[in-house]
Amino acid sequence: MATGVLPFGQRTLERSRARTYAPIESVWEGEDAQLIEQLLHYYPKKTPRRILDATFNGRRFWRGSKRSVVGIDIDLGHRPAIVADNTRMPFGESFFDVVVYDPPHIPNQGRDKLKDFNTRFGLGIKSPKEKGYAFSHTFPPFVKEAHRVLRNEGLLFAKIADYVHDHRYQWAHVELVQAAKDAGFVPCDCIIKIRKGPIIDPKWKVAHHSRRRHCYWLVFRKSENCE
Ligand SMILES: C[S@@+](CC[C@H](N)C(=O)[O-])C[C@H]1O[C@@H](n2cnc3c(N)ncnc32)[C@H](O)[C@@H]1O
Repeated sequence: MATGVLPFGQRTLERSRARTYAPIESVWEGEDAQLIEQLLHYYPKKTPRRILDATFNGRRFWRGSKRSVVGIDIDLGHRPAIVADNTRMPFGESFFDVVVYDPPHIPNQGRDKLKDFNTRFGLGIKSPKEKGYAFSHTFPPFVKEAHRVLRNEGLLFAKIADYVHDHRYQWAHVELVQAAKDAGFVPCDCIIKIRKGPIIDPKWKVAHHSRRRHCYWLVFRKSENCE
């Protein structure tokens, strides 16, 4: 619809958005907390008031933030405000404006206790052998729940990393996009986050895969359209 034929209130909102518009970069090298603040200004059509962090852990995403955020985590040890499973959330429908999601990024290593990825990468929970020790099977039930608890036009911001496991490249971000589409989200944007150095375990042998120095921040909207 052309701006000229918008109703008065919407026209005012469009004008104020145009005044404050600053494009967001597709590559991010800073802290997640700063990027999230930019996402929260850039994508919502209305100022977001109810924000859920569905994988709270050490709450690093909210360092220095004055926002009031509901944080859940399945692991009591992180002392979240609410201990809950994000695939069965204790909230009503259409409650939140924004859901933030940062699932465990790499699989646990079966029974190999030497590779203490649990502590280092906040896996929190273990994945069974029949799931390849990985977590992508949790994406579909999570995005279904995120869709339920978000209001229409609500946003899901997800930090997701691909990885190499079981001698294969594991396309976690593709699996998440597919699961989100199946749940009714429209995938709207992809920002590449770069870290200074790759995650390297000294026990790794020679491997013919590039060392991953990036992950993605994906933006989904509970809507038919992105804009
Ligand atoms: C990568 S960490 C999140 C780090 C967090 N964003 C931060 O900045 O500190 C992943 C977290 O997800 C939690 N988690 C894993 N499965 C979950 C589930 N089904 N429901 C809720 N939390 C879950 C883990 O306990 C872990 O704390």
